Parts: sequence; structure tokens; C-alpha cells
Amino acid sequence: MKKLLLILAFLALPATAEDTRQFAQLTPQAQETLRQEMLDNLLALNEILTLMAANQVREAGQVAEARLGRGAMGKNARLPFEARPGPQMPPEMHNLGRNSHFAASDFARAAASGDRDQAMALLPALTGTCVTCHASYRTR
Ligand code: HEC
Repeated sequence: MKKLLLILAFLALPATAEDTRQFAQLTPQAQETLRQEMLDNLLALNEILTLMAANQVREAGQVAEARLGRGAMGKNARLPFEARPGPQMPPEMHNLGRNSHFAASDFARAAASGDRDQAMALLPALTGTCVTCHASYRTR
């Protein structure tokens, strides 16, 4: 009987583990801007990896700078405030976003020199910024 109660207690628990990430409240418009940006981030990252695997190191750096690096910063400034995710984020989250751009530019600089090993060594720092933010924050 005790055992059955225990099983029932477990069944009453939600099927998924609790999401302990910090909730960042963004307007629906800002969420949509962010989602589009994120989808392009993943595409850009895949292009970078594909180019690196093909030994097109400088080209990989160009994609990184233009799509993920400093070259991709500030493009939401012309949007109305409610559609801009950055300023609506908690400051630490916004900082993680900036760090992601900086990490992409660090990689891009190394890749621009054509030094494949040096560029490869900086890639995990870039993907690490994606992981850190996703592991720390949620918007839904
Ligand atoms: C500053 C925080 C932050 C950083 C840095 C970040 N992301 Fe995200 N990402 C988010 C948030 C928040 C969402 C959820 C957006 C939503 O749906 O509201 C998200 C969602 C996504 C999604 C899912 C999009 C969808 O709905 O289909 C992808 C893919 C993604 N991010 C890729 C990346 C990649 C690749 C990087 C690194 C180059 C990255 N992200 C860096 C915060 C971040």
C-alpha cells in the first residue's frame, strides 16, 4: 500500500523537470525579433562550420563578422522600442548577448589571418555564449 502511494505521488509530479532558468519578460514583438535573429544565428553557425570543414577559413570569418559579430550589432536600433529585445532584457542577459557578438568577432579576426588552428581554438568560446544564455534564461 505504501509502495502504491509512493507511485501515485510520483505520477502526480509533472512529466518534465522544472525549468529553473530566469524568466526574461519580452513583448511579443521583441520575442519575434529575437526568434528571427536566433534562427539566422543557427544558419550562420552552420555556414561557419561548413566553411571551416572545407578549409575556407577566411570566408568563415567573413560570415561570422557580418552575421554574428560586431558587424551584426545595433541593427534593431531602428525598430520601435517594443520590438527591440536587447533593451528589454535583464542587464546580465543583454551582456551575454554582447559577449556573443564579441566572441564571433574574435573568431572572425583569427580566421581573417587564415590561421585555421587559431580560429578553430576560438570556436567553442563562440558556441559557449549561445549555450550560456540558453542555459540561464527563458522568454516563455
Ligand atoms: C543573450 C541570450 C542569447 C544568446 C547569446 C543566444 N541566444 Fe538563442 N535564444 C535566446 C532566447 C531567449 C531564445 C528563445 C526565443 C523565444 O522563442 O522567445 C532563443 C532561441 C534560439 C533558437 C530557437 C529559435 C526558434 O524558436 O526556432 C535558436 C535556434 C537559437 N536561439 C540559436 C542560437 C545560437 C546559434 C546562438 C549563438 C550564436 C544563440 N542562439 C545565442 C537567447 C540567446
